[in-house]
Amino acid sequence: MIEDILSIKDLAREEIKKAKDSKTVQAVRVKFLGKKGILTGKLKSLSSIPNEHRPEYGRVLNEVKTEIEAILKKQEEFFKSAELQNSLKANRIDVTVPGYCIPCGHRHPTSRVLDEIVDVFLSLGFRIEEGPEVELDYYNFEALNMPKDHPARDMQDTFYINEDVVLRTHTSPVQVHVMKKNRPPLRVIAPGKVYRCDADVSHTPMFQQIEGFMVDSHITMSDLKGVLEVFIHQIFGPKTPVRFRPSFFPFTEPSAEIDIGCVICGGTGCRVCKNTGWIEILGAGMINPRVFEMVGYDPEAYTGFAFGMGIERITMLKYGIDDIRLFFENDKRFLEQF
Ligand code: PHE
Repeated sequence: MIEDILSIKDLAREEIKKAKDSKTVQAVRVKFLGKKGILTGKLKSLSSIPNEHRPEYGRVLNEVKTEIEAILKKQEEFFKSAELQNSLKANRIDVTVPGYCIPCGHRHPTSRVLDEIVDVFLSLGFRIEEGPEVELDYYNFEALNMPKDHPARDMQDTFYINEDVVLRTHTSPVQVHVMKKNRPPLRVIAPGKVYRCDADVSHTPMFQQIEGFMVDSHITMSDLKGVLEVFIHQIFGPKTPVRFRPSFFPFTEPSAEIDIGCVICGGTGCRVCKNTGWIEILGAGMINPRVFEMVGYDPEAYTGFAFGMGIERITMLKYGIDDIRLFFENDKRFLEQF
């Protein structure tokens, strides 16, 4: 019987020796020392051993068990550490490799230019107002001295929602909203999106404008000139030539279009300025007394100026961009340049 146990010991030793990894060692452990293991079975049957042999048999059994456990443990530790070394080698991390760059976003060029423009006017004491993009025909046209049959409406290709509601074609209706709610003196800018049924290399159905106006008892055209010159020199550089050209808007009288010396050719003439040396950048004028009447101001008591410009256009001129559609394509190669 003792021989039995000793041969189990030899068998276990043999199998542990042959094991190639920790998994097979584990299998050997189960085979001999598991719940249904060979040695466990012998321990369980100890009670059936005759009394006189039991102590000796039990002692040998326990010795063998301890011995097998010890070699199992040693083998397990050997394989575990070998396996750990292998996996460390296989999954080696080179801490000197440069890290991944986290992609970093850029502000859109029109947002940057809008901010720059807004900053100039804030520094001149203007405050910001906003108006709705879906606008009543009344504010977009009527109150700006463009009644229903007025030919000037044709200048703006309009998206009509219904007869009385339009997507605003310019930011000028904000003038009416603000003047109806407030009394002069007023110094306001109103940036925002506007919509026109129009699309080519320099026009998109949605674009951004910024409106500006100033109303008080003694505002003159020279105030308009002064404010716009400061603005143009801050945005395009202090040496940029500026000129006022007579024009027409129903809501200003007199009206002007403001040109700057061509930023591309410096005034010598090129494709962009159509060889004139000048580029139009905004519309402006003295607020028409009829608009004052519409908002309930006494046109004898107050005068004011207003101007409006397209943000995309200013951005294109500032950075020499020749296609407005680039602003909407979100091509990173384009956006990253600003
Ligand atoms: N609203 C005009 C346009 O969109 C611009 C403008 C604004 C002209 C204010 C005069 C005064 O063309």
